[in-house]
Amino acid sequence: MTYRIAVLPGDGVGKEVIEAAMIVLNEIALDAEYLYGDIGWEFWRREGNPLPDRTVELLKQTDCALFGAITSKPKDEAQKELAPELQGKGLEYYSPIVKLRQMFDLYANVRPAKAYPGNPLNYKDNINITVFRENTEGLYSGVEYYPVPDEIEEVLKNHPRYKKFVGMDKAISLRIISRKGAERIIRAAFEFARENNLKNVTVAEKPNVLRETSGLFVKVAREIHKEYPEIEMWETNIDAQAMWLVKNPEKYDVIVTSNLFGDVLSDLASQLVGGLGFAAAGNIGDNYAVFEPVHGSAPKYAGQYKVNPIATIRAVRMMLDYLGEKKKAARLERAIEMVVAEGKVRTYDMGGNASTLDMAREIAKKYAEA
Ligand code: NAI
Ligand code: MG
Repeated sequence: MTYRIAVLPGDGVGKEVIEAAMIVLNEIALDAEYLYGDIGWEFWRREGNPLPDRTVELLKQTDCALFGAITSKPKDEAQKELAPELQGKGLEYYSPIVKLRQMFDLYANVRPAKAYPGNPLNYKDNINITVFRENTEGLYSGVEYYPVPDEIEEVLKNHPRYKKFVGMDKAISLRIISRKGAERIIRAAFEFARENNLKNVTVAEKPNVLRETSGLFVKVAREIHKEYPEIEMWETNIDAQAMWLVKNPEKYDVIVTSNLFGDVLSDLASQLVGGLGFAAAGNIGDNYAVFEPVHGSAPKYAGQYKVNPIATIRAVRMMLDYLGEKKKAARLERAIEMVVAEGKVRTYDMGGNASTLDMAREIAKKYAEA
C-alpha cells in the first residue's frame, strides 16, 4: 500500500529543512505519495487563516504529516500584517500547530534526546532519553480567566486557601489532569520502553505539592506499571529531575510527565545533545501523527540554507517508525550516526560551514551505504 504523507513546509527555514528532508526521503525510496499543504504566516496574511480548510481536508486524507516550522507573532503585529481587505473583520491569529494537536487529538508529544557520538555539542556522549509529554491538557488546557468571572469567584471563595485572593485583580489558569489523559500518555511511554527493550520509565511530577493533579498522574502510573513488570518505574519530583538531567542524564531511558513539565524538561534534555539543530518531536494520537523539528522559522537565517536539517531528518526517522518501517528507520539512524561521527560535514551550529542541503545529501549518501 502506498503511504500518503502530508508535507507542510511552513515559513522561513521550515521550507529549507523540509527540502533537505525530501532529499533524504527520496533516497529512502519509501512507497509514498507526498502531498504538500499550506500552513503558516503567509496564509494568515493573505487569507486570515494560518491553517486553511483545504489543508485540514488534505491532512484527513493522509496517514501522517511532516511539518517544518511556522512564524507566529503577538496579537497586535498579527493584526497589522493582515491584508488590508481582511482588516477589521474580527479575524484572530491562532497557532496552527496547537490547533492540529487539538483537532487530531495528538496527545503524545514524543521528544527523543539522543547524543550522537562525535557531535561537538554533546554534553555527554552516552545520553539517550525519550521524553513523553502529555500534549492536550494539564496547565495548557486553555481554561483561563482574566478577569475572573463572578460565578467562578463565588464557587471558590469558601476554599480556605482562596480567601486571601477574593476581590483581587488576578488571573487564573486551570491545571486539568484527567484519568484518561494520564492513562494514555503513561501507557504510550511504557509501550515505547517495552518495544525498544529499555530498562526504566521515570514519572516526573510534583505530587507532594500538587496533591490532586500530580497525585492522580502518579497513581495512574503505578497502576499501569503493573502491566510492565520487566520495566523499572522511578518516581521523581520535577524540580529534582531537572537537576538530575544535568547531573546524570545517562541513567534515564524514558521520562513521562504532564504538559508544562514536559515542555520544560524536553527542552532541557535536547540542549544536552546539541540543541535545536538536533531536536525532533512526534505529536502522536491514536489515528494521526505530525512529526516536526522543535525549532521555529529562525527568521535570522531564512533564505540562507544554513540551519541544521538533522532535527527534521530525525523527525523523518520517527515518522518511519510510526509507519512501521522499522528497517528503514534503523538504517536512517545509522546514516545520521555515521555522518556525525565522521565529522566532515557540519553545519554552522556544529562549528562547520556545510549548508542545509549539503548535510541532507551526506546523510542520503550514507543511507545508501548503510
Ligand atoms: P527559532 O527556533 O526559530 O530559532 C532560534 C534560534 O535557534 C535561531 O536563531 C538559531 O540560532 C537556532 N536554530 C533554530 N533552528 C536551528 C537549526 N535547525 N539549526 C541550527 N540552529 C537553529 O526560535 P525563535 O527565533 O524564537 O522564533 C522564530 C519564529 O518561529 C517565531 O515566529 C516563533 O513564533 C516561531 N516558532 C515556531 C515553532 C514551530 O513552528 N513549531 C516553534 C518555535 C518558534
Ligand atoms: Mg517548548
